[in-house]
Amino acid sequence: MNEFQEKRIGVFDSGVGGLTVLKELERQLPRESILYFGDTARLPYGKRSKAEILQFVLEILTWMAGEGVKMVVMACNTSSALALDEVRALFDFPILGLILPGARAAVRQGRRIGAIATPATVASNAYRQAILEIDADVRVWQVSCPEFVPLIEENRIYHPYTRQVAMDYLQPLLDRQIDTLIYGCTHYPHLAPVLKTILPSRVCLVNPAYYVAKAALRELKLLGLDNTREKHPTRFCVSGDPQRFSQLSRQWLQEAPNVEKVYLSSARLASMPLNSVDL
Ligand code: DGL
Repeated sequence: MNEFQEKRIGVFDSGVGGLTVLKELERQLPRESILYFGDTARLPYGKRSKAEILQFVLEILTWMAGEGVKMVVMACNTSSALALDEVRALFDFPILGLILPGARAAVRQGRRIGAIATPATVASNAYRQAILEIDADVRVWQVSCPEFVPLIEENRIYHPYTRQVAMDYLQPLLDRQIDTLIYGCTHYPHLAPVLKTILPSRVCLVNPAYYVAKAALRELKLLGLDNTREKHPTRFCVSGDPQRFSQLSRQWLQEAPNVEKVYLSSARLASMPLNSVDL
């Protein structure tokens, strides 16, 4: 047992979307302790620019480094698409994103692939590029779903309006006869009960969370960082209202968690070689 093995894995998202990744990590890595951060004061990330996302991600990673994490899983496709490549080399712990694991899984499943994601993720073309690099012969269509994250964060999942919005977003993909659909935003698996009533059963749903958890397990073992002792309870932190996050997340965690409010410091960014990243 080395001193790092007991440390936490940092997991972050703009809000409750990352809980879909947390669930998979808890299922596949039951011994690992987790530090969860939701940047709820600044969501949705999907409408932000690349420069903003990069700034937020640097602040979160710097804070997590200070908390002593041994690895970070970006439980946010928008951050993975827009900032992962730029920040990876700036920290001395492994940082995992969702795009590549999701793209690989989709290509294993189908030939006509749809990806639903935030406007920023779609504009980045991250899924299309990753998929076509693996197999240039598959067809890929991406649909931006700007209303989904606000509807989920406002707890309007089962509202009839949400179902109507979902039908509108999915129709162009159904017209293309997709056989596979990627949840290209970690919030969207929370909509599974609604989406599954719209999608034909032949469409295979790919949740990148499952595959990033597998990758995290592999990487921890490879680096000798996997925990063999008792885990600590997950620590939840947000930049916005802790009570609100606790109440909203109760439906997925089976209990309302204790949530701390944290203040991220942008001053710490002064030590970052920001000029080395392309804003
Ligand atoms: N859940 C995140 C993602 O996977 C961010 C969504 C948002 O805040 O717009 O992209």
